Amino acid sequence: MTEKITKALQLVKDCGADGVLVSDPANIRYLSGYTNDTGVLFLSEKECCLLTDFRFLYQALEEAKGFRVIDIGKQGYESLVNELCVQNSVKKLAFEKHVMTYREYEAYKENVTAALVPCDNVLASLRFIKTKEEIELLRTAEHIGDMAFSEILPYLKPGVTELEIAARLAFSMKMHGASEESFPAIVASGVNSSMPHAIPSERPIQNGDFITMDFGCVYKGYCSDMTRTVVLGKASDKQKEIYNLVLKAQTEALRALKPGKKGKEIDAVARDIIREAGYGDCFGHGLGHSVGLQIHEDPNCNMREERVLQAGMIMTVEPGIYVQDFGGVRIEDMVVLTEDGYENLAHSEKKLIEL
Ligand code: GLY
Ligand code: MN
Ligand code: MN
Repeated sequence: MTEKITKALQLVKDCGADGVLVSDPANIRYLSGYTNDTGVLFLSEKECCLLTDFRFLYQALEEAKGFRVIDIGKQGYESLVNELCVQNSVKKLAFEKHVMTYREYEAYKENVTAALVPCDNVLASLRFIKTKEEIELLRTAEHIGDMAFSEILPYLKPGVTELEIAARLAFSMKMHGASEESFPAIVASGVNSSMPHAIPSERPIQNGDFITMDFGCVYKGYCSDMTRTVVLGKASDKQKEIYNLVLKAQTEALRALKPGKKGKEIDAVARDIIREAGYGDCFGHGLGHSVGLQIHEDPNCNMREERVLQAGMIMTVEPGIYVQDFGGVRIEDMVVLTEDGYENLAHSEKKLIEL
């Protein structure tokens, strides 16, 4: 049994169960090495199984070393899980309530005689601190984002649409080895940039626009996340004021970032700067979040985050100011916490770019 599995079973015991059904794909991948979305893990003190269907059987056998791989065949998941509980003397089976649907729950309840114990995503805590190998993959993923950003700049000309820019960013990242985007890219120009998570539209970019590009990729399972905002043509005084304020908030938050600080303390550094400049109501989201196998992982840097940051955690630092009917700016880097501070994995220019 690997150390990861031993730790996972301890977390499950803390929930009052003696076995667990893992159905969150990120937890499945982390614990077993199986990279597909289809399947579940059954973990108990006696054995670890991966259940999937024939389409993914050979892949599962190849990837999930140390697991008993079972083809659900005609039997189906629920009845097989019941058999495994009986074989492994599991009386209380934990399940991940953040991913199991009510319909799935009903089917398991009907077929499984062991008690079903709803658990929060407790296994995610295993993934908070990244290993050296994981950090290397995250570094590469963010580097791919940097390359895509430098490649998009020559294409930012009046008349090009937000959708075209988003498509080019995705294309660039794939050409540099990414398997997919870590989320659909946000490209928001002009007044659209006042919406933090605007959906790219057919709007052609125009001189005088802010253009916010928030994008990332998946490299060998690990996600990247970065945002840059540029101005097409000459920036107005108000654009410069907002941009430089966001940059200052980010710079100071990064300066404060180190192990031992609570997520909410780092958030407060950026938020106070923005509020004191009179834009408090225009920064309505958290400062950052962790990233790994998923684009949004815990812990966070936001107003509520009491958890303490530790070396080896990944964090985005992404303050923004969004002014209704005008436009907005976000600047986002992805960093890894080190023993005495952080290392920035993003290297794209942050001084205001006027194109
Ligand atoms: N891509 C959304 C975010 O930056 O969290
Ligand atoms: Mn982002
Ligand atoms: Mn982010």
